[in-house]
Amino acid sequence: MGTMLEIRNLSKRYGETVALDDASISFSSGTVHTIMGENGSGKSTLVKLLSGVVSPDRGDILVSGAPFSGSDPIAFQAAGFATVFQEVLIAPDRNVIDNILLGYDAPFRRKLPRSERRATVSQVLSRCARTVIDLDVDAGVLPLATQQLVVLARALTRKPRILILDEVTAALDFNDREIVFTLIETLAREGCLVLFISHRMDEVMRLSDRITILRSGKVVETLDRDAATPELLLALMAPEIVEEREHG
Ligand SMILES: Nc1ncnc2c1ncn2[C@@H]1O[C@H](COP(=O)(O)OP(=O)(O)O)[C@@H](O)[C@H]1O
Ligand SMILES: [Mg+2]
Repeated sequence: MGTMLEIRNLSKRYGETVALDDASISFSSGTVHTIMGENGSGKSTLVKLLSGVVSPDRGDILVSGAPFSGSDPIAFQAAGFATVFQEVLIAPDRNVIDNILLGYDAPFRRKLPRSERRATVSQVLSRCARTVIDLDVDAGVLPLATQQLVVLARALTRKPRILILDEVTAALDFNDREIVFTLIETLAREGCLVLFISHRMDEVMRLSDRITILRSGKVVETLDRDAATPELLLALMAPEIVEEREHG
């Protein structure tokens, strides 16, 4: 379980808002590494920096120990990153098959015979959804939760080394959440680094190997799962709430 990904002193501001402030974290392969924090703590900013969607003001990203200089999503994808963003990004006028195959590089997609497209898509979808999904409808007509599963399936087609999931379970029903959890555990066992962004205590406690807490854009602490309790995580995330509860 070597260090697969590292960020050093990563910072990003939007105007006056410091969205991420001098963040340093090491991530190991074969782990589920959770990023936890309240709304506005900088989680999605970190996700966007690790996807090439926005560029840092300062700081470095290292992949397998080497400085990574990619500055756009294509470069990050080529380095083995795949991201499911918090905002569901589908092509609403394309069917489910096309939306999922968008995860493949164009040459591969073109070479794939029509008959195999359906089989490929069904296979990848079966790993991340229990809901039966009509492959021929425009993705835009599907419920939001189903759209998120389509985007997750698209990310899987890239066979990522680093899979980043930004609050993906929020919209899912119980059955689909369970299958996504199993998928996350399996990918980590296979050596993938899964960056799991969540603020749901139950799933964080269940899935994480390591947990990094963000507060106001700053890394507060990184803990091993064994050292984490819900009380401790809450105290690190939102000390003012815990304080209020105790002193009323
Ligand atoms: N594009 C943007 N323009 C201006 N402010 C932004 C933008 N994106 C994020 N922010 C601000 O940066 C902070 C961190 O946001 P974000 O990373 O989305 O947090 P989280 O995902 O933890 O809820 C928030 O204060 C948010 O309002
Ligand atoms: Mg967010």
